[in-house]
Amino acid sequence: MSELNNIALKILENGKGILAADESTGTMSKRLEGVNVPSTPENRLLFRETLFNASSMNECIGGVILYDETIKQETSKKNKIPELISKMGSIPGIKVDTGAKVLAGSPNEKITEGLDGLRDRLREYYKLGAKFTKWRGVYNISKNYPSKLSIKANAHVLARYSALVQECNMVPIVEPEVLMDGEHSANDCYEKTSEVIKRCFEELILHKIDLKGIILKPNMILAGNKSKEKISNEEVAKLTLDCLKNSVPSEVPGIAFLSGGQSEIEATENLHLINKYNKTNFIMSYSYGRALQQSALKFWSKDIQNVEGAQKIFNHRAKMNTLAALGKWSKDLEI
Ligand code: 13P
Repeated sequence: MSELNNIALKILENGKGILAADESTGTMSKRLEGVNVPSTPENRLLFRETLFNASSMNECIGGVILYDETIKQETSKKNKIPELISKMGSIPGIKVDTGAKVLAGSPNEKITEGLDGLRDRLREYYKLGAKFTKWRGVYNISKNYPSKLSIKANAHVLARYSALVQECNMVPIVEPEVLMDGEHSANDCYEKTSEVIKRCFEELILHKIDLKGIILKPNMILAGNKSKEKISNEEVAKLTLDCLKNSVPSEVPGIAFLSGGQSEIEATENLHLINKYNKTNFIMSYSYGRALQQSALKFWSKDIQNVEGAQKIFNHRAKMNTLAALGKWSKDLEI
């Protein structure tokens, strides 16, 4: 087994998932200010440190995606953050894109930047302890979108990113996120997500990526959040499985979904049903940001000294999602 395949499998073993704690300073400021906590480097670290010290890190969280600021910070006890994550039994990772910018030629769409100087930054992150990385491409659905241009351009940069990451002996998380914002149907989401993922793999193969040494981070197949169509969780699970079965090469070891604005329970229930019906060989787990942290952040914001209280809430969500990744979750387990 290759070293990269080993890391990918270790991150997702036994129902473990990924904590996406890699919000950029801008996004993290929105999250903190949304619960009336000033967004200072100290507060950003304090909340994250609270989660990284939680007991579920060992049982449920196989990997943590960090942001550049966090991977270089030290805890109040003078531990380096990647060392703390490893000590807690998880694997440190790092977001390496520098954000989605307006796509020249199609100004209503985005292209993700960050390739310039990436090889040097990767070496630095590797030395700091990162074993895997993340890059997010983003696509919106409406009548004319995503355009061929955005699908091709984002696939190209995702492949160039992945090649540099594997060259530096880390596992790339490949994240093509088709957004749930909009009036589109679940069928539109299915069609567009299939096209986006197929195109990504064409480019990954062209760039000679070892597909056994990546993790795919896709969206689930959902109706747009402004759509009149309401589809059941069972349908979400079946459409998602069907889409991935037809667009992801079988060498890929694991798929870790983003939550993308679903509520915490919805993201857990959908993941559970996906695993209940999964007949593929892909591990299907989670790489959630909001759906793992939202309730814990809300609680923590009211009393930032109550570390145990916030950890309890985070532990519960992590456990529920790990049960869902094993197809063993049920609604009665929610408190
Ligand atoms: P959400 O689960 O909040 O969508 O975040 C996952 C992520 O890492 C987006 O890039």
